[in-house]
Amino acid sequence: MTDGYIHACVGPPESAREPDPRCTPSSAGEKTNNSRLAARAFYKLLAHPLIFDIKQRMVTADYRGMRQAFGAHLALEDCRGLRILDVGCGTGLCLDRLFCAEDNFIVGVDLNVAYTQWAGKLYPEIHFVAASADQLPFTGQLFDLVLLSSVLHHLSDPVSMDLFDNLKRATTSDATVLLSEPVWSDNRLSNCLLRWDRGAHVKSPEGWLELVSEHFLVKKDFIYRYARTEFLGLVLGFRQSD
Ligand SMILES: C[S@@+](CC[C@H](N)C(=O)[O-])C[C@H]1O[C@@H](n2cnc3c(N)ncnc32)[C@H](O)[C@@H]1O
Repeated sequence: MTDGYIHACVGPPESAREPDPRCTPSSAGEKTNNSRLAARAFYKLLAHPLIFDIKQRMVTADYRGMRQAFGAHLALEDCRGLRILDVGCGTGLCLDRLFCAEDNFIVGVDLNVAYTQWAGKLYPEIHFVAASADQLPFTGQLFDLVLLSSVLHHLSDPVSMDLFDNLKRATTSDATVLLSEPVWSDNRLSNCLLRWDRGAHVKSPEGWLELVSEHFLVKKDFIYRYARTEFLGLVLGFRQSD
């Protein structure tokens, strides 16, 4: 770890997907089933790009918190002439808010075809591709900068590892990876919100650091909050094999 922020965080609840008693109704059974049904209906709605886009605009407050947090470690406004890849780009809002498409060559990848089609209409200057994170359709060392924003907690660890291997092949040797993932913390509201998240693989800060340790060197790590949720931000470089 590169600084003291992470020590302020407590680990995850006993089991990441076990209902946290502080967040669920006191009586299980029917209510729990109801909340499961509600979650399923919510996820179905979110699969529609318009609903997802509106939700992202409302909850992220235009990614100001994320821009500030990463901006403290990296001059985002100086990103020019770069080839940037965003994996799990959703409807492109985060990419658009973080980077200037006129000054860079930007590609967004997402599993949800409807999201990428929607994003393509919203941001015609950015290239959007529908593909899975572990099967990136790129050959050659194309990218200088990679954004992984809130996508890894949707992926199992083996799929994340495949993604990291893919990224290593698709990037220059000195490429930078910006990673932002939600974390279990001592913030009850944040934990409750995360239990409703579509991603089933939220980790503690230490869990994320362990996941990336084989492929990456951690240049910066920091905990920050946006959308009322606690996040770990990482600035990473690829480990070079001997
Ligand atoms: C929480 S959203 C994050 C969107 C955007 N990066 C942001 O920060 O606002 C997670 C995104 O990851 C995408 N996703 C989930 N699994 C994926 C996979 N295997 N490959 C590519 N994208 C995936 C989802 O479709 C969704 O758009």
